[in-house]
Amino acid sequence: MNPVYEKLQNCYESVKAKIDFTPTVALVLGSGLGKFAEEIEVVGSISYSEIEGFPTSTVPGHAGQFVFGYVDKVPVVCMQGRVHYYEGYPITDVVLPMRLMALMGAKYAFLTNASGGINRNFKAGDFMLLNDHISLFAPNPLIGPNIDEIGTRFPDMSSVYDPILRDIIKNVADDFGISMQEGVYAQLTGPSFESPAEIRMLGKLGVDAVGMSTVVEAIAANHMGMKICAISCVCNLAAGICDTPLTHDEVQEAAAKAAPLFKQIVRETIVRIGNL
Ligand code: HPA
Repeated sequence: MNPVYEKLQNCYESVKAKIDFTPTVALVLGSGLGKFAEEIEVVGSISYSEIEGFPTSTVPGHAGQFVFGYVDKVPVVCMQGRVHYYEGYPITDVVLPMRLMALMGAKYAFLTNASGGINRNFKAGDFMLLNDHISLFAPNPLIGPNIDEIGTRFPDMSSVYDPILRDIIKNVADDFGISMQEGVYAQLTGPSFESPAEIRMLGKLGVDAVGMSTVVEAIAANHMGMKICAISCVCNLAAGICDTPLTHDEVQEAAAKAAPLFKQIVRETIVRIGNL
């Protein structure tokens, strides 16, 4: 068997032995946004370290566990903390959790992250709805023998961020009076923040916000036929646009500040996804 698929199956069996739960929504909580898990009526949790062979999250602000439960009546599995490529895991391990959540039954992937704003109309603390992405700076997680059991060799990428889910998020933001930017997100590997020249280049390529996650997960989720939406918390203006050095503490602080509004948007979006 393909070793990547075998590992996925083993992790799936390990999770199934610990909890009997079929999620509708797979939610990934980005840097500093993990507190959303408090909104979930929790029925169980599994720490990544309890799953044999599973990558563990080593980044401050990322708890490193799956939380299972309900948001209103919608069954959700939530990654409280994600795994990043820059932590040193192979890219297939980085997307293993997303694939696992799809195998558990999740039809919808809701991705969140912290980013640096490149679009000159953005300010720190804004939210951005992803309408597309650029993946070219991180390895494609589908490289290697295709796992035919989960998806096709050459998946279409023309509408990764589902238009219906995007409309839901825009309507939720409108209904709550929360401003929501929209744009293209690029994933770079990190862990160093970008240089001003890199940010100028990304701006010319049409990138509105930059970060170190999400796109590879979206590619893996799309490969498995999930419907995907994603929101970024623009925690800082990117290098060369802001005039101070960037720190992870600043990113976490900005995300924590945005958390109450973020919670409202995520919660109501999940409720409305439950009504689809
Ligand atoms: N660059 C990359 N990733 C980020 C940034 C940034 O400026 N802010 C938060 N995550």
